[in-house]
Amino acid sequence: MTRAAQGAEYVLDSVRERWRSVDSMLPAPVPEQVSCGARLDVVDGDGNLVAFATCRHREYPAEAMELNWGAARQFTLTPQVAGHGPQVGAALDELLTHWRRHLARQHGAAEEDSEAIVRWPSRDIEGVRALLRHGLQPLVVIAARPRSRSADAPGPHDGARHGLHIRRAGPADLDAVVALGVEVIRFDEHFGSARLRPHSERAERELAGKTLARPDPWIWLAERDGRPVGMVAAEPPEDTRWILPLVGTSPVAYLGQMAVLPGLRGGGIGAALVAHLHARLDAVGVAVTALHYAQLNPLSVPFWSRMGYRPLWTCWEVRSALSMR
Ligand SMILES: CC(C)(COP(=O)(O)OP(=O)(O)OC[C@H]1O[C@@H](n2cnc3c(N)ncnc32)[C@H](O)[C@@H]1OP(=O)(O)O)[C@@H](O)C(=O)NCCC(=O)NCCS
Repeated sequence: MTRAAQGAEYVLDSVRERWRSVDSMLPAPVPEQVSCGARLDVVDGDGNLVAFATCRHREYPAEAMELNWGAARQFTLTPQVAGHGPQVGAALDELLTHWRRHLARQHGAAEEDSEAIVRWPSRDIEGVRALLRHGLQPLVVIAARPRSRSADAPGPHDGARHGLHIRRAGPADLDAVVALGVEVIRFDEHFGSARLRPHSERAERELAGKTLARPDPWIWLAERDGRPVGMVAAEPPEDTRWILPLVGTSPVAYLGQMAVLPGLRGGGIGAALVAHLHARLDAVGVAVTALHYAQLNPLSVPFWSRMGYRPLWTCWEVRSALSMR
């Protein structure tokens, strides 16, 4: 084994131990496999590796669905930082300084529609000041709800109390599902986590059309007097491999979208829809449900907390990428 490999192993062991102590829901650290090839290292005064990171570059085509939720050009850092207490902040600070230099050499990093992203465990608080110091903003949270939290939420039949009928959506509901999906983007755009672009509705329609064409689409509508007033969409465990490395426990479901019509919010429709979904998730043995929310969304943050979700990862971002300090 080379000296550098021993260093990386030491760093990963230290990260694993710290994460385990700050948050029992975090998975073991996994270095990002896809990267631009640059390896950013931080060594201590004795030449020992104390932190390393890789950077991933992504460029999305003009009408990609992903552009509803992020910039066209994305630079993502995956940091692994050893140690405890102030050592963590100091090493992360140095890593971010190296990254800023790396970004300055990259094509497109100064473009307005670009962003720099660092995903950091929400409860690993020793890194927060370094992230703030470099001008990164905590825009999005990946929150998780273990199955054991199901007792906190309202009961599955709560909908009836609100004059609601909750049912699975089908192909004939495409317009309602798209309208509610676009509403999520429109609302979240206020908080920097979404972008309503000229093609957003088209992309939503394409995705919803594919999902609704499945035999049992995981989209549910809440109806009042026969009119759709709310929607929740989720991905079943067979579709959530992409988020497994961030959650560590399986089976995992992903709650992708949730909206209630403006004017009808705050009356219990959202809670009834989520209770309906949770009953289904619990019945099929889902161990953890994950979702993204915009950290600045004043409706969704308290709502998800009440529904049993709590922060697991915080996505720190800055646009353009090069406006990072
Ligand atoms: C987030 C959202 C889906 C929640 O749905 P909702 O129907 O508004 O949620 P609920 O009414 O069940 O719960 C929200 C509030 O109403 C209260 N409430 C619940 N049942 C109630 C009832 N029967 N009567 C009065 N108030 C009630 C809740 O306690 C909560 O109180 P708060 O105002 O102190 O926060 C909805 O607000 C929304 O569509 N927001 C815009 C889009 C969005 O943010 N989507 C989520 C993206 S992650």
